[in-house]
Amino acid sequence: MDRPPENYVMDDQAAGLFRVNRRVFYDPECLEQERRRIFEKCWIYVGHESEVPHAGDYRSRNVAGRPMVLVRGDDNVIRVLLNTCTHRGAMVCRQKSGNAKTFQCPYHAWTYNARGQLVGIPGEDAYSDAFSREERGLASPAGVDSYRGFVFACFDPAAQSLYDYLAGAREYLDLVADQSEVGMKVVAGQQAYSARANWKLLVENSYDGYHGLPTHQRYFTFLSDIGIDVRSRDLASAPHQKPVDLGNGHAVVEYQSAWGRPIAHWVPPFGEHRRAHFEELRAKFEKRFGKERAWRICETSRNLGIFPNLVINDIMAITIRTFYPVAPGYMEVNAWALAPLEESAEDSALRLDNFLTFLGPGGFATPDDVEMLESCQRGFLNREVEWSDISRGMKREHPSITDELQMRAFWRRWNQLMTEPQIQRARRAA
Ligand code: FES
Ligand SMILES: [Fe+2]
Repeated sequence: MDRPPENYVMDDQAAGLFRVNRRVFYDPECLEQERRRIFEKCWIYVGHESEVPHAGDYRSRNVAGRPMVLVRGDDNVIRVLLNTCTHRGAMVCRQKSGNAKTFQCPYHAWTYNARGQLVGIPGEDAYSDAFSREERGLASPAGVDSYRGFVFACFDPAAQSLYDYLAGAREYLDLVADQSEVGMKVVAGQQAYSARANWKLLVENSYDGYHGLPTHQRYFTFLSDIGIDVRSRDLASAPHQKPVDLGNGHAVVEYQSAWGRPIAHWVPPFGEHRRAHFEELRAKFEKRFGKERAWRICETSRNLGIFPNLVINDIMAITIRTFYPVAPGYMEVNAWALAPLEESAEDSALRLDNFLTFLGPGGFATPDDVEMLESCQRGFLNREVEWSDISRGMKREHPSITDELQMRAFWRRWNQLMTEPQIQRARRAA
């Protein structure tokens, strides 16, 4: 049975109080509703076009809990196919990635081409005239579209276009995509890990400027050991930092980097020898985009959350991260590194070093974050404490990235999608 809508989020803008009921982190019924009202309604990230560069290239993916295949057909069209045989259900693609002209179901050997068309049935004469191969091709989500190389799928035929859905997030995807003159690529390899925590805790954490210093002490100690003192900087009053509500539940925190971008670790003492290279790169950006935009690409970092479960952290390396709840208190996380296609081997090695040593599941940051998220989840066993507080900076005229505006943007949209059907039903009944 549906719950009263007001029980999830308490949003008192006059008083400056914002609270989230902790049931949303552990209640199986809430997860069931999220599957229907969020994951079946929103545009969900599937993969990047560069992951299937040639005809027949494919990647099997778990998207919103379903097996799918991202594949480039012989007509060069990128499709998302639902990985289930239209005969009796088996998954027709069992490899993680590869290149194939056809997918043959291992159960009774029905065969589909890379466009998803059914092209072979053993003993086809056993079927009546009413049976049609055309109707039995592999299915696709109602919507498949891409923006600047990022491919999304949506199961709701009535959903708004991906372009409109992305709203203010497009500007930030542009800042990422513009880092290459010829196109961005997902670097081979993938980080896959899991956490015993609700998926929304990772949404919050991914653009949480408040937790940096206390949670990642180890990293900041390391930085100060090698002569970079980030701890003395007050993030909240640093120039050019701001959290932005991008609409539709998307949000970003943008801030000036202490570590040098877009190729990380050019700063002394990491790589004084790289200064000239960095300046050359920057001059190229200035030529293409003008001083202001070039400055923004080279000097600021972005933690971007695209509702509901895509995070792009354009910090040192560029990480694409997506995650999905397997259970209320358990999520699976996948992450990829994104880089300019034309990047040199030396730059690429540095980028991947960052991708592993700071952001990776065995790096400086992610294990600390996962420990905190799992700690929250364990803390929720104390059911007496019903509400989490997300009010920080709510009454400030200019909230900082150590405030929680970005999380409120997520939660408001989440709450709207979760409660709208109930509100409409209540209205109809009244
Ligand atoms: S289930 Fe695929 S051929 Fe039978
Ligand atoms: Fe963190």
